[in-house]
Amino acid sequence: MVEIKNLNKYYGDVKVLNDINLTIDKGDIFAIVGHSGAGKSTLLRCINGLEEYQEGSLIVNNHEVKNLKKKELNEFRKKIGMIFQHFSLLQRKTVFENVALPMEIWGYDDSTIKKKVDDLLHLVGLSNKSKSYPKELSGGQKQRVAIARALTLDPDILLSDEATSALDPNTTTSILNLLKKINQELNITIILVTHEMEVVKQIAQKALLLEFGNIIGLDVTEDLFLQPDEKMKHFLGEDEVVPTDGVNIKIYFPKDSAHQSLITSMARKLDIDFNIVWGKLEEINTHIIGNIVINIEDSQKDLVCDYLKTKDINWEILK
Ligand SMILES: Nc1ncnc2c1ncn2[C@@H]1O[C@H](COP(=O)(O)OP(=O)(O)O)[C@@H](O)[C@H]1O
Ligand SMILES: [Mg+2]
Repeated sequence: MVEIKNLNKYYGDVKVLNDINLTIDKGDIFAIVGHSGAGKSTLLRCINGLEEYQEGSLIVNNHEVKNLKKKELNEFRKKIGMIFQHFSLLQRKTVFENVALPMEIWGYDDSTIKKKVDDLLHLVGLSNKSKSYPKELSGGQKQRVAIARALTLDPDILLSDEATSALDPNTTTSILNLLKKINQELNITIILVTHEMEVVKQIAQKALLLEFGNIIGLDVTEDLFLQPDEKMKHFLGEDEVVPTDGVNIKIYFPKDSAHQSLITSMARKLDIDFNIVWGKLEEINTHIIGNIVINIEDSQKDLVCDYLKTKDINWEILK
């Protein structure tokens, strides 16, 4: 669906995307994550042809984007919806009129427009607001209008640039749930840009980490968080500080496992005490995952390792 190879993008002399390689499959919910200025929006805008790229290949729906002529580009963009942080609604138009706008521009007839807009307002839960104006809506409701508008031309792909960044956590969750529903029910591929790890954890199946235009991580979301490499840890601000005495063992809790009681049962079974020196459990895509670092005495190392070997989990001795 989206295939990017060795993509470089410059603004003037400044390289803002460096050797980007990635594939996004149909039906994915794919996150592009990074701090401000990393190049996330630029990458997103390259995908729908709003920005040019100088080197490499970017294929979307079997089209090399930079080869599209103006007219082809308009047709191409029809199949790619987009939503933004600040909603971009027209204040003087009603909810219905805002959603109808893309179809009007493309010259659809009134009855087709009416049916489509009514269906979409129903989908986003705003049927009763069709005559309201944007200023009468909450932030979450405004984003729902923008989502409905982005779906009017039956896109294959929905691009979201920080769509929940202006919303409170509960509203963010409700918008993310709506995006999941759209992904599942309409089979629309979603590519979302965010600087919030919480958003990635709640919705993305795969994520790409961008830093100063470079990819520093690209993986299935669970794996990114479950076994973060050094760069990822640094990115998350989670460089571990562990004791220099004894032995530190890191235990991973992968998805679909209920090993949270492992630590306490191990303590009981082996009749030893140990400290939990670092740990994090969190919910990712509705699975609990995380890791814990325990510190034990040198003399207990074999005992604990033998015990862990009998369990179907990942663990490692930290150097
Ligand atoms: N139109 C532009 N002209 C020149 N530089 C730009 C332009 N847009 C963005 N940049 C620069 O490109 C880099 C990436 O920006 P952007 O993609 O907006 O980052 P992000 O969305 O991750 O915050 C930044 O250094 C930014 O200043
Ligand atoms: Mg941005």
